[in-house]
Amino acid sequence: MRGITIRPATPADAAGITAVHCSHVRAWRRGGRGEVVPYDTLSPYEQWLHGGPWMNGETCAAYLERWLRAGHLALVALRGETIVGEAEFVEDDEPWPYGCVLHVSLLFVHADYTGQGVGRALVEAGAELARARGCEALTTQPESEAEPFYRRVGFEPWLWLREWQAPAREHPLPDRPVRDDDAPYPWGSGLALRVGRYQTGRHMWHELAERPLPELAQLPWGRWRARLPGGERVWLGLRAQPLAPSQADGFVWAPPQADLRPAVEMLQTLAARLGFAYVDLLLEEPDGRDLAAALGLEFQTDVTFWRRELK
Ligand SMILES: CC(C)(COP(=O)(O)OP(=O)(O)OC[C@H]1O[C@@H](n2cnc3c(N)ncnc32)[C@H](O)[C@@H]1OP(=O)(O)O)[C@@H](O)C(=O)NCCC(=O)NCCS
Repeated sequence: MRGITIRPATPADAAGITAVHCSHVRAWRRGGRGEVVPYDTLSPYEQWLHGGPWMNGETCAAYLERWLRAGHLALVALRGETIVGEAEFVEDDEPWPYGCVLHVSLLFVHADYTGQGVGRALVEAGAELARARGCEALTTQPESEAEPFYRRVGFEPWLWLREWQAPAREHPLPDRPVRDDDAPYPWGSGLALRVGRYQTGRHMWHELAERPLPELAQLPWGRWRARLPGGERVWLGLRAQPLAPSQADGFVWAPPQADLRPAVEMLQTLAARLGFAYVDLLLEEPDGRDLAAALGLEFQTDVTFWRRELK
């Protein structure tokens, strides 16, 4: 792409990356939702509420350092010396049908530089990285506004998911879950992220443990290993939602064919024990609908995973 260079990002790029992300915020609000105020009057946590760690140069640098140390990838696009776009990627290898993929976990182009081929250049650079690593596809979970862009650069909808809300409540458990917050990602162990697939299994494993600011570090979360009644090993995860801390997001890494009902009941039980009122469960269609009906869960929202096969 003429005039655009792409290179790996480093934490030293944080100020430029923060400018890219902040360019899409129309108004900075007190507490993320209140009155409109100047950016500089907000705390780093209030800035975070507008879109995550990229909204502040310091939290962005620390976040990127952890991201790269964990073995994930990040690219920046430049016009001259100016950073005009950023993309982050996670390589993952989950059992069929997910496979070995490079997942585009984030892609932003500075608002002043959209429509000039920057986004496409970052996707193509990601495709080159993916091929070099032997991945079979790129995947992503786009915001609905970005779906036309992803279609233009070769992605198609691939996986349909629905978020449901379950009450936290005790069930008789088939196994006693063992808490293990520090365990490394069980890469290549035949487990797939089957509940909470907002991104891929490895991405959500990383994100569950991300505590970039004191206000987030104090929110309850946890990761447990357990066995299903059939003996299959699973991992369970819970984390509080920052703006609704009585609600948790729930995660289950399990073999592709395992019955999820006992895992979901374990999550409900763990959520009750951690003091949550509800746990949100993102389940794949169409099976998730049956489970939701069986457990009487309340529909929240739809999410779609997109995929581009690599030749
Ligand atoms: C979505 C985004 C990354 C696109 O980047 P970009 O640099 O503007 O896109 P490009 O100029 O490379 O466009 C590539 C193709 O997609 C098309 N496209 C881009 N945005 C589009 C849109 N909103 N609707 C329809 N087509 C679009 C372009 O016309 C172009 O088509 P062509 O090459 O066939 O002419 C950028 O607009 C952005 O950062 N948006 C805000 C953040 C965001 O939504 N990120 C994605 C989060 S999942």
